[in-house]
Amino acid sequence: MPKVLVTGGLGFIGSNFVRHLIAARPSWTIVNLDARTYAGNPANVADLPKSRHRWIKGDIADAKAVDKAMAGCELVVHFAAETHVDRSILDASAFLKTNVIGTQVLLDAALRRKVRRFLHVSTDEVYGSIPKGLSKEGDLLEPNSPYAASKAASDLVVRSYFVTHRAPVITTRASNNYGPYQYPEKALPLMITNFMEDRPFPMYGDGRQVRDWLHVQDHARAILHVLEKGALGDVYNIGGSYTCENRELISKVLELMGKDARLVARVEDRKGHDRRYALDCGKLKRLGFRHAYDFERGLRETIAWYRAHEAWWRPLKTAGGYRSYYKTQYRKK
Ligand code: TYD
Repeated sequence: MPKVLVTGGLGFIGSNFVRHLIAARPSWTIVNLDARTYAGNPANVADLPKSRHRWIKGDIADAKAVDKAMAGCELVVHFAAETHVDRSILDASAFLKTNVIGTQVLLDAALRRKVRRFLHVSTDEVYGSIPKGLSKEGDLLEPNSPYAASKAASDLVVRSYFVTHRAPVITTRASNNYGPYQYPEKALPLMITNFMEDRPFPMYGDGRQVRDWLHVQDHARAILHVLEKGALGDVYNIGGSYTCENRELISKVLELMGKDARLVARVEDRKGHDRRYALDCGKLKRLGFRHAYDFERGLRETIAWYRAHEAWWRPLKTAGGYRSYYKTQYRKK
């Protein structure tokens, strides 16, 4: 009956993973350590059974809180991170503290507690922008945003703990996630909810940046697969089932929602905006993983979810913190 520590399990990907784990591994119990920052939301896990899942409020950079939460856990899946590139451009300090120091604090606790497996969740953004081809796990890390740099730094700390201390670590690097419970500052939920309100979506620059779209439930399934079957010390890319330019994505969403192209507002580009991400996922496939979602279905379901869950996202968009971020971020654009 494994007990798993999930960090950041009130966030978008973390809460989807917790939800998947509860359904897929009925004998496992979950300790969810989450600081409940602006992007963490207890509502994301409110319906999950208390007998299987317990949320502990705490910061991963706080060694005492981490040590206590990890007691009795044989597995750790580490999601907790500051993740929004635009916020890291406005102020990088929380990114360095949580993503780098937080990861080191967790690794030290995992060594002390003799955890059996520690899965570190990372991102394709650590490879930087690639004009063509696919990024492989052994490629150079060339992060361009403060967010990507903080994740690359954490990946290297994880690597060093494997080489130096033989820590039982595995790293996964995923592409852009989409699906239910994504905080509406990221491109897709911002687009869907703005269109629902007949408000424009601010498209950065020429909209020809390429992203690879991964349904969050496929991501959750892939993480569990790698946690159970992956080799210690290894890195696994987790890409999606669809790659496209932002302007194509916007057109698709407009069409599916029956909205007009006048809702697209072209605004000043993001500083240092990565042009293209694309992952080689051969290693994950060789480990036996297969996607369940195709993008068309995933996108339709995601739009339907935001339509059916206005009570979930509207309070987030009307909160003071969101409004002041939105003003700062888009005012000058
Ligand atoms: P985002 O969801 O922030 O993910 P990432 O930057 O980590 O890939 O953005 C996805 C793409 O959408 C990215 O190329 C930036 C672009 N984008 C916009 O054009 N306008 C926006 O308001 C946002 C938030 C993103």
